[in-house]
Order: sequence, then structure tokens, then C-alpha cells
Amino acid sequence: MTDNARSKLAARYGVDDSSPLSQWNDTLDLLLDHRSVRAFTDQALPEGTIETLIAAAQSASTSSNLQVWSVVAVQDPERKSRLSTLAGNQAHIRQAPLFFVWLADLSRVARIGEQHDVELATLPYLESLLLGTIDAALAAQNAVVALESLGLGSVYIGGIRNDIAAVGQVLELPPQVYPVFGLCVGYPSSERPANVKPRLPQRAVLHHETYSTAEEESVLAAYDARLGAFYEREGMKAAGWSEQVVNRLRSVSNLHGREALVAELTRMGFGLR
Ligand SMILES: Cc1cc2nc3c(=O)[nH]c(=O)nc-3n(C[C@H](O)[C@H](O)[C@H](O)COP(=O)(O)O)c2cc1C
Repeated sequence: MTDNARSKLAARYGVDDSSPLSQWNDTLDLLLDHRSVRAFTDQALPEGTIETLIAAAQSASTSSNLQVWSVVAVQDPERKSRLSTLAGNQAHIRQAPLFFVWLADLSRVARIGEQHDVELATLPYLESLLLGTIDAALAAQNAVVALESLGLGSVYIGGIRNDIAAVGQVLELPPQVYPVFGLCVGYPSSERPANVKPRLPQRAVLHHETYSTAEEESVLAAYDARLGAFYEREGMKAAGWSEQVVNRLRSVSNLHGREALVAELTRMGFGLR
């Protein structure tokens, strides 16, 4: 491995002694260098950027080629501001020149069913909702890789699910369409540069042949220390990862409205059988 590749790998795992990777290329270099960007310059995006990113998004695999996703590109400051308010007042939504809202979209296939006068009996099942959600996520991640290759930065916004009905009104979504997440896109500001956040050691997530928790405790303890050190370097309160997990997941109030998703999705025309 080159020095560059070694340092990218060290940053990804927050440790210098990761086993070297046997392969490396420009795509891996880009992927391992990912970081969420929450501060953007006011530089406008080059003409045609949206279409380029959507071509990358549409190149992702899609279950049975059903393509049950859509995306709304929001650039209007007033509409971005309303979405920011709905997503917990996240300032980067207002600051980014472009805000994508990625949608699980069963409405297009439902319209096709109507045109053919055929009842699509599979649509009211949870499987169809998952299909749209997975398709939207795969498409969005392709766009993220593409935009990072162009020197842009982004951050996903799950906060858009705090109130999917209100987001639906802002975007005039038809029934059977729900916003899976948002994505802020823009040029990263050098005033608040984002750094690569270390991930769990591979031993925590990669299982060979069968699932095992044999080494989990020691592996997680090591990661707690590495992530704590990362946050300290970032000037943030140095909680370990396990502590963060517990704090994030212990209270329903941390769902910020998303605890009502089943009821909201039902109202928006999704079946969850
Ligand atoms: C589906 C999804 C939703 C997210 N929602 C938010 C969000 O609402 N606000 C935010 O600041 N970051 C959000 N993030 C970014 C994560 O916090 C970030 O990816 C994670 O901390 C890892 O950091 P990294 O992307 O810099 O490696 C979201 C990420 C994902 C994948």
C-alpha cells in the first residue's frame, strides 16, 4: 500500500496498525475518504450538476427494475428554510445551495396499475414500502459518491422524517410517496472542515460463515477509546461510542416525532401488512 492509502485506512479506523488492504484504486480512495459535511460555502453548483448526480443515482441497482423512488431537488431558499424547520432546525439545510429529498415512491406504479385497470395487490404490504426505501437509499448513496468525486460535500438528513406529513405538504407529495431522508449538497467550507470519522473495527461487523459475538466486548471497548479520541481531537465532549448508542436509543423522545411513523405512513396511503 502507498503512504496515502495507509493514512486513509488509518483515518477510517482511527488506528495506525490496521492490516493493509491488498487492493487500492481511486474509487476506494474516494470511498474511504467520505465524511459528512455540515458547513458549506455560498458557491453555486455548476450548471447541470443535478442532472449529473441523478444519472449516477439512477445507475444504482433497483429491485426488479421497478424504480420505486423519486427525488425532489429543492433550491428555493424559502422552501429549504421550511424543510429545515421541520427537520429540527438544522442550519446546514438553509446553508447548502441544494437540498435533495429522496422519496420512496409507490405512486408511479400505482398509476400504471390504474391505467391498466389492474389492482396491484402487493402494494399494501410492508415489503413494497421496504422496496421503495431500499431503492431510494441505494440511489442516494450513488449520488453521494458521485458528488464527492466532483469535490462537493453532503450530509444526509434523517430529521426529514420527524414530520413526514408536513414535509409531504411542502413538497406536494401525492399519496403513497414518503420522504426517506434529505441530503444537503454544496461545496465544503474550509472554515469548518469535516474529518473522517472512524468506524467500528471490521471484526465487529464482518462475520465469516456464521454470526459470532465472541470478541465483541473487547472490540467495542477498543472502538469506544478510538471514537472518544476522535471527538476529543474535534474539540467535542469525548463520549465513547457505546455511551452514544445508549444515549441515542434509550428514550423515545429522541425519535423527535418519528415514533408516529406507522400512523403517518398509513395516513399517507401505505399499507403495512
Ligand atoms: C439516513 C441518515 C440520516 C442522517 N441524518 C442526519 C441528520 O439529520 N443530521 C445530521 O447532521 N447528520 C445526519 N446523518 C449523518 C450521520 O450522522 C453521519 O453519517 C455519521 O455520524 C457518520 O459520520 P460520517 O458520515 O462523517 O462518516 C445521517 C446519516 C444517515 C445515513
